[in-house]
Amino acid sequence: MFRVQVDVLVLYNAIPDLSPINLGPESGMEWKDEYSVGVAKFDADHMIILDLINTHLSTEINLDTVQFILDQLNEYTTEHFDLEEEHMDRIGYPNLADHQRKHIEMKSHLDFIRNQVTAGNTDTIELTTTFLNDWWDNHILIEDMAYKHFELETLNAETDN
Ligand SMILES: [Fe+2]
Ligand SMILES: [Fe+2]
Repeated sequence: MFRVQVDVLVLYNAIPDLSPINLGPESGMEWKDEYSVGVAKFDADHMIILDLINTHLSTEINLDTVQFILDQLNEYTTEHFDLEEEHMDRIGYPNLADHQRKHIEMKSHLDFIRNQVTAGNTDTIELTTTFLNDWWDNHILIEDMAYKHFELETLNAETDN
């Protein structure tokens, strides 16, 4: 488990374009090939996150906008997480259980923020920014990228034999 995580960090640092985003006032995000996890459906889902980040950056943020973003996330996550977990299972990914735990944590964090929005808590705007940022930087670019890295290594090992 530890070895794969180290490898992913090495990969992450070795590819300059795979850089984390900074949610600043003028930063807009565009999709790059380097962001691909190697499965078209998952990439399409990840592009939704980018769109939501860009929506979050470009619109005047209020609780209605945040509600919209969180509703969209809520709609897409269950299916996306299930399909990713099936994929990781199929390729024999050794960190599946850990990744599943992350998905559960993200879903429960999303539920928490959605409840805060419903309660009219304006801190939710900040929470949503942090959540989206973390989702992109830590989950998609590191944790999701890890199953792609594993799959490539496995394929390479099979080709070498
Ligand atoms: Fe994902
Ligand atoms: Fe994931």
